[in-house]
Amino acid sequence: MKKTIVLSILVLFTWFAVGTAYAAGKCPQPRKTKNAPANIAKMDKTGSADAEKGKLIYAKTAKPMACKMCHGDKGDGAGKLGAALKPAPRNFTCADSMKDVSAGQMFWIIKNGSPGTGMVAHGKSLSDQEIWDVVKYVRSTYVK
Ligand code: HEC
Repeated sequence: MKKTIVLSILVLFTWFAVGTAYAAGKCPQPRKTKNAPANIAKMDKTGSADAEKGKLIYAKTAKPMACKMCHGDKGDGAGKLGAALKPAPRNFTCADSMKDVSAGQMFWIIKNGSPGTGMVAHGKSLSDQEIWDVVKYVRSTYVK
């Protein structure tokens, strides 16, 4: 009897843990986004960018909606809207999926969007400086 209870608790716990891991965004994650031109992928202007300003863009001011609505409060791709999207928003905390994603790559996709995915272009609503700010915020906060 005791054994059965212990076993049931174990099974429930495993089920819960797997469920939570899934909700928090898959890792590794398939990546549909195309690569930026090589010269841009090599660019990195985060040195002089402002992560605090980037945080505000990520969590609040980006248009048409805040990045967190899709990429999540924790940067894990599990934002409220993200769940409905195929492919799913990038999970920035997944080292496996982010290892080839440079600062310049992120800059390019935020500016121009990723055709065939829910990732819209922000080049009209954000200045280049603001895009570097949000790149710096994401890389310093979520990317491991
Ligand atoms: C409507 C949902 C949505 C919003 C809002 C959104 N994204 Fe995305 N984002 C996506 C999806 C979907 C992808 C594509 C995932 C893939 O490649 O499979 C993506 C991809 C990206 C990538 C590409 C990384 C790579 O693999 O090259 C970056 C960087 C990114 N988003 C940053 C942002 C930032 C910063 C914001 C806010 C300014 C933002 N996103 C807003 C859904 C969204």
